[in-house]
Amino acid sequence: MTTSTPQRSALITGAARGIGRAIALRLAGDGLAVSVADLGSARAAADGVAAEITAAGGTAIPLSVDVTDPDAVDAAVADHVEAHGGLDVMVANAGIAITVPLVETTAAQWKTTMDVNLAGVFHCYRAAAQQMIEQGRGGRIIGAASVASHRAGKFQAAYSASKFAVRGMSQSAAQELAEHGITVNCYSPGVVHTPMWESIDQALAQRKGTELGSEMQAMLGVIPLGRLETPNDVAGVVSFLASPDAAYMTGQSIVVDGGMWFS
Ligand SMILES: NC(=O)c1ccc[n+]([C@@H]2O[C@H](COP(=O)([O-])OP(=O)(O)OC[C@H]3O[C@@H](n4cnc5c(N)ncnc54)[C@H](O)[C@@H]3O)[C@@H](O)[C@H]2O)c1
Repeated sequence: MTTSTPQRSALITGAARGIGRAIALRLAGDGLAVSVADLGSARAAADGVAAEITAAGGTAIPLSVDVTDPDAVDAAVADHVEAHGGLDVMVANAGIAITVPLVETTAAQWKTTMDVNLAGVFHCYRAAAQQMIEQGRGGRIIGAASVASHRAGKFQAAYSASKFAVRGMSQSAAQELAEHGITVNCYSPGVVHTPMWESIDQALAQRKGTELGSEMQAMLGVIPLGRLETPNDVAGVVSFLASPDAAYMTGQSIVVDGGMWFS
């Protein structure tokens, strides 16, 4: 008699573009069935990522979810479980960045940043942990932090505070969930060329009167490895965190930033 191991599965938020898209493609390439989750407004792009995975022989479904809504996150996890037969890896990747001096940061900007980057990750961690505990076969919970969760830069008060908090929450969750065989870790990228960093570049260039693109290029001066980061540089680290090789690591933040900051 032969027994087959069920296919592991991963739900990735903010997966319609940028780092999340690269993570979805990478984990699907690693053999996991994935859910490409993103805002309803990004559904066409999420459909495209899921179709790309399917065309390459992988298993993927698109899901529409706003991570700021706890009920919507619970529903997305339920949809994922129905489609893939369980949940093994949650990648709480969705995030936003505002680039504003502290004295100009509005209450609304502060709240939106915390709603998406912190409460959004909390909703994903909680829903995933509840499902994984019920399944009783362990799991991996992985959250998007940032090099700014270790060392904040200028104009990042809200963003950096939200990312420091993700690390704190992950350390607490790691201790609570260890007895269930669930690990909780973060990835902390540096300057990744995605639409998010294009918007940061635009905000900085406008403020300083510099040329579009110049602020991102200027970061090369503080990146020892001498090039901007790609979404695939991050996806490789997430692939490791989701793999059996990372079984003994929990509560950590892996900084993957070309050497900008030493944790
Ligand atoms: N780009 C970088 O240099 C960098 C550096 C460090 C950390 N990060 C973090 O990595 C993650 C991904 O960044 P990125 O550069 O790919 O960003 P991005 O802006 O290119 O993509 C983010 C994705 O998240 C989705 N999203 C936004 N709000 C959402 C919500 N409420 N619910 C569901 N989805 C939502 C967007 O629709 C988008 O598809 C973020 O958490 C970000 O803070 C990025």
